[in-house]
Amino acid sequence: MEAVWKYFKVQLPAYLKAVPLPKTFQGFLNLNREEWLELLPLLILVSILFYLALSPLTSLFFTKKKKRPHINTKVDKDKEKVATDFPIEDLGDKKVFCRCWKSNKFPLCDGSHNQHNKETGDNVGPLILKSSEGTGGKKEEKKAKVKKEE
Ligand code: FES
Repeated sequence: MEAVWKYFKVQLPAYLKAVPLPKTFQGFLNLNREEWLELLPLLILVSILFYLALSPLTSLFFTKKKKRPHINTKVDKDKEKVATDFPIEDLGDKKVFCRCWKSNKFPLCDGSHNQHNKETGDNVGPLILKSSEGTGGKKEEKKAKVKKEE
């Protein structure tokens, strides 16, 4: 510890006094080869300190942002955006739409979300649209059966 203290208290100031540090930019241009060699360790040290001081900032500006994984891994990958028209008239009493992007019948659900959930621990599921009674047609089927029986 004393050696470090001595270095900073005695040797470093002595070195800095001996270094031919020009006071102007023009003075740097007038240095000869030996003076540049004496100045070199100081320049290296200052460069390292400068780099260490700025490196957290450089990483903010110069690192590439990591791309997040795609949710859609297979549906119409050649398109810029997957948008699906589905006529309301074609909904019928019940339609089940995929929200996990794993279905082979996209935009309809084929149950692939179950495998995805099993593998990843996720909890995604489909969007289920039912008729206004919310029975998916079962109520109408029951009504029809009742009418037949009557
Ligand atoms: S297959 Fe995607 S929600 Fe069912």
